[in-house]
Amino acid sequence: MPRLFYALWPAPSVRERLAQAAAALDLREGRATREENLHLTLLFVGQVDDATCRALRHDSAAESRTAFTLEIAATGWWRASRVAWLAPTECPAALVALVGSLRARARSHGCTLESREFNAHVTVAREVRRAPRATGSIAVTWPVSDYVLVSSQTAPAGSSYTVLARWPLAV
Ligand code: 2AM
Repeated sequence: MPRLFYALWPAPSVRERLAQAAAALDLREGRATREENLHLTLLFVGQVDDATCRALRHDSAAESRTAFTLEIAATGWWRASRVAWLAPTECPAALVALVGSLRARARSHGCTLESREFNAHVTVAREVRRAPRATGSIAVTWPVSDYVLVSSQTAPAGSSYTVLARWPLAV
């Protein structure tokens, strides 16, 4: 059964800048996210059956949501999940609205969602047991003009992600 999530998927230039910012963190330990996997999760949907996956992929996303820009300049670490992250300094209202509409969309397709609150972040490393230190600039401007539905395959060597569908945001 496919395991899905909605995400912001950086364009190559932003991806490169995020990777540079991640490299500016002195992680000291942990498993760095591979550059091609860097993303910002909007909503974790979890496992769905094939019919639901098809319905989510082909949802015409009638509601129109607007584009926004993220200024990624914060960094931190969660002790409980051992995740080191980069994050926007502010969460634009358009991003919050987009996440809200995705929650409603997933529920309308019968998906049961976790109650976890949205916390905008880009995971840059896992299995991190000590707070990372920033050793350089982590300022990344990320103009967001679309979002994606992603299928996640987990493997011992790390996750691999496949973008299944992409929707534009109105400029
Ligand atoms: P994370 O980066 O903070 O771990 C695919 O697994 C994406 O969905 C990851 O970016 C992950 O966030 C996010 N996610 C959110 N809730 C999750 C859950 N319960 N299980 C797995 N991934 C989850």
